[in-house]
Amino acid sequence: MSFPFISAEEAASYIKNGDNVGTSGFTASGTPKLVTVALAEKARQHHEKGEPFKINLYSGASTNDYVDGALTRADAINQRMPYQGTPCTREAVNEGRMNYYDPHLSHVCQDMRYGFLGDLDVAIVEVTEMNPSGDVILGAGLGQSPTIVQMAKKVIIEYSSYYRTSFRGFHDNYVPLDPPHRREIPIYRPQDRIGDTVLHIDPKKIIGVVPSNESESIRSFTQLNDTTRAIGHNVASFLAAEMKAGRIPPEFLPIQSGVGNVANAALHGLADNPDIPQFEMFTEVVQDGVMELMEKGKCSFASTCALAFSDDAMLRFMDDIDFYRDKLLMRPSEISNHPEVVRRLGLIAMNTALECDIYGFVNSTHVNGSQMMNGLGGSGDFCRNAYLSIFLCPSIQKGGALSAIVPMVTHVDHSDHSVRVIVTEQGVADLRGLSPTQRAQRIIENCVHPDYKEIMWDYLKIAGKGHMPHNLQAAFALHQAFKETGDMRNVDFSRYV
Ligand code: COA
Repeated sequence: MSFPFISAEEAASYIKNGDNVGTSGFTASGTPKLVTVALAEKARQHHEKGEPFKINLYSGASTNDYVDGALTRADAINQRMPYQGTPCTREAVNEGRMNYYDPHLSHVCQDMRYGFLGDLDVAIVEVTEMNPSGDVILGAGLGQSPTIVQMAKKVIIEYSSYYRTSFRGFHDNYVPLDPPHRREIPIYRPQDRIGDTVLHIDPKKIIGVVPSNESESIRSFTQLNDTTRAIGHNVASFLAAEMKAGRIPPEFLPIQSGVGNVANAALHGLADNPDIPQFEMFTEVVQDGVMELMEKGKCSFASTCALAFSDDAMLRFMDDIDFYRDKLLMRPSEISNHPEVVRRLGLIAMNTALECDIYGFVNSTHVNGSQMMNGLGGSGDFCRNAYLSIFLCPSIQKGGALSAIVPMVTHVDHSDHSVRVIVTEQGVADLRGLSPTQRAQRIIENCVHPDYKEIMWDYLKIAGKGHMPHNLQAAFALHQAFKETGDMRNVDFSRYV
């Protein structure tokens, strides 16, 4: 069977108002790049005629301007799932113009297969190679593609010729059976392959093929600064000491590293510490920093869901692809983040908090408890199941007007039961084995910025008694002070006693 080449506009014409649409990729890597832009234009034309046009968009994770950006600006998304990081999409979510469902990423594929999210009308999938039987090689992000091509009634292919070298061999496509037939996920080392390099798509579902030559358009990270460098140094020194104490074996344990500037800095910290041996990664995204770790010989292998390389790094990767062939493997998000595997492998999970509280609760998603930043992503999959769950953040934000350590977080993503260690540029709070009041002392002593130490001790004085003392009126006094005066340091606890 040969598939017709069609334009992006024709492909978009097959997508109807109210459709559930699944997209390939994970982060900005491997997403569609043309059909979603044409779909945004189609929505705009409908809106100009006064006709409704919105889809429900189910992506692998965050996307990029080709997907979230274009479709949000065209007001073409009704329901969005499962993660976003595009400023205009964030704004639409926070202004209530878009419904946003933010599950654990490891749940997304099975939520779809279990039927919790309704039928999937269309899947738009970027591929880098394909044959007439419907066998395809995906691109730089594997995401949820194996499940969406299984579930979708129609499949639109974006055939990318941007990659000048073959991605064949970098994917491990696998869909577990659903309960009650599910078996163990047989991954015992990050390198273990359990699925297929090739993804098969039922040829009868394929509407057509849209040729594309677009890059991922990913920018490089913000350079390290003194704060992020210190966080990286602190986390690396802590792990080196854990190894010396025999709590991390000499061959080390696989690393999971979250998204953003701070997680990137933590990887640099590991690279620079001579006491940290060569390690493997079992993570959901690898960014430019991991390529550098591999080049330096510090990281020997990474299992991931996506290669989220900046455009410059992607060109380097393609030039030197043979060097990486035995060092990188992409899995579906359901497997890259699978709690069973995370627990079995004994990961060291390093994720970033927006704010932490003095008892070890972590908010990764909601500023002031109400404004969505990005989403939960895989942080919950890893945090709850890792051998060692570490949360990192700078102790202050906005020039010191905000403390990232507060009496009570305004939203809980990760509870004190799962969070083991908190690291800021000030130091490390190892919370293992501690009661809530012991945790509060450790966090205030080791992690809080000097400008806020006295404030936190003052809060504890008015917190009263109990297993986890809180003064419910004063618990958000710092947030209130920021709202009223623009600086948490202006907090006045006398108002609450
Ligand atoms: N209150 C208000 N704003 C805050 C804040 C707080 N307590 N803490 C951070 N911010 C702001 C920063 O000021 C910055 O804003 P800016 O872009 O306007 O400068 C922004 O949040 C990002 O902070 P930064 O310190 O640069 O951190 P980051 O790039 O490392 O991102 C998270 C931090 C928490 C937003 C990001 O890691 C995330 O979305 N995590 C949730 C998902 C996740 O962990 N996924 C990984 C699983 S594999």
